[in-house]
Amino acid sequence: MAKHKVKIMETVLRDGHQSLCATRMRFRQMEPMLAQLDAIGYKALEAWGGATFDTCLRFLDEDPWERLDKLKAALKNTPIQMLLRGQNLLGYNHYSNDVVEKFVQKASQHGVGVFRIFDALNDVRNLRVAIKAALECPEKPEVQGCLVYTISPVHTNETFVELAKELKEMGCHSICIKDMSGLLAPYVAFDLVSKLKAALGDTPVELHTHCTSGFGHATYIKAIEAGVDIIDCALSPFSSDTSQPCTETIIAMFEDQAHQVIDKPAFIANARDEEKPLDRQALTPIAKHFLGVKKELIDEFKLKGYFDVNPNVLDFQIPGGMLSNLTNQLKEAGMEDKYQDLLDEMPKVRADAGYPPLVTPSSQIVGTMATFNVMTGERYKMVPNEFKDLARGKFGRTPVPIDRGFIINTLKVPEDQIIEDCSIEDAKAETFAQFKEELNNKGFLNPTDEDVLSYALFPQVAEEFFKKHYTQVTAYRR
Ligand code: CO
Repeated sequence: MAKHKVKIMETVLRDGHQSLCATRMRFRQMEPMLAQLDAIGYKALEAWGGATFDTCLRFLDEDPWERLDKLKAALKNTPIQMLLRGQNLLGYNHYSNDVVEKFVQKASQHGVGVFRIFDALNDVRNLRVAIKAALECPEKPEVQGCLVYTISPVHTNETFVELAKELKEMGCHSICIKDMSGLLAPYVAFDLVSKLKAALGDTPVELHTHCTSGFGHATYIKAIEAGVDIIDCALSPFSSDTSQPCTETIIAMFEDQAHQVIDKPAFIANARDEEKPLDRQALTPIAKHFLGVKKELIDEFKLKGYFDVNPNVLDFQIPGGMLSNLTNQLKEAGMEDKYQDLLDEMPKVRADAGYPPLVTPSSQIVGTMATFNVMTGERYKMVPNEFKDLARGKFGRTPVPIDRGFIINTLKVPEDQIIEDCSIEDAKAETFAQFKEELNNKGFLNPTDEDVLSYALFPQVAEEFFKKHYTQVTAYRR
């Protein structure tokens, strides 16, 4: 009987340390193991994007573009994958189309082989420019579209299948179920993956989850039984808790072929020689190295490094890190007794806001609004601008349209500020040429395109970085 071959996308170089160690891993801590990681036979290695770009500049004194070059030089056989937030790129605003296009082109040129592209609201209008730009790159990277997974009265497996079909029509080579808070339950995953496989033909389906609620490993087993093609795993030291299920454990689960009761036995395959299983033993020395790195990061940055399983995330959908932030805010305001009120308020605010999936930036926006409601004791008495922006459509269409009366009367947003089509707004955003001009005016003459992009995404942080490195790195840094 033909065995189902499942591939692994390894996250130790990105999501693993982003989830457990605040994205603080340095290139030099990755470097000793890159050749060995490259030899394993992973489908791809996620190593760029997400919070890595910001953290490189802000905390690690590394140029993210140089990091990408060095990764590319060392990873000769395994594609480098990056996580990209559509029209948001890696920043917190919507950028103009030419900035998005330039960023994607440059990332591809520097070695990104797989672009995983998502929008927090699953509004495909926010994905169009990035997907098209990636499809047009001469290096021919893989372009992957995401379903940002969430639970609400309006999200069903059928609505996610419709979204997946739309992404495929837009030209995506593969589809990823992005379950950033670990909400996808094993049997639901079985149903969702089965439906996606039936609807998408031979387009590969990948599953990305986190172990936050404790489902992770079980969810992967059921997804594999349903025929998922690729799963995202993290090497043991950077796995589990709020991170991905463990690479070695998942390989081991499928080593035993005799006891698999499913009618289609599966194994974890080497992506470069699909008849062979991934070699679990070869991972042992690599895991040993990264365990040392994890200890270094915990020491240097005074991190916790380990997180408790949090089944409550299923009820409140508040990602773990955010829950502790909100608790701290209440504590600072001397309102610790309001904790339960906050947990009750969060889903109400999310409903008022049209059930957005809770992922950066919507998670922070909804969380802050709920905290204000609880702290002031009166709902929507104080409304942060970001919440108004979410409600008036600045970030795109929410899964359920927000009541106009609520936007105008309760949130006090003037009617003429309601945005029907955010792409028209994006077209007014600062262009690449304007960012470049701004840098020139600050005395950074002839900046490279890469530096203009760093500046466009994180202006203050990038400027500080440039000042520090003025004498070395690129032509303009004298
Ligand atoms: Co993730």
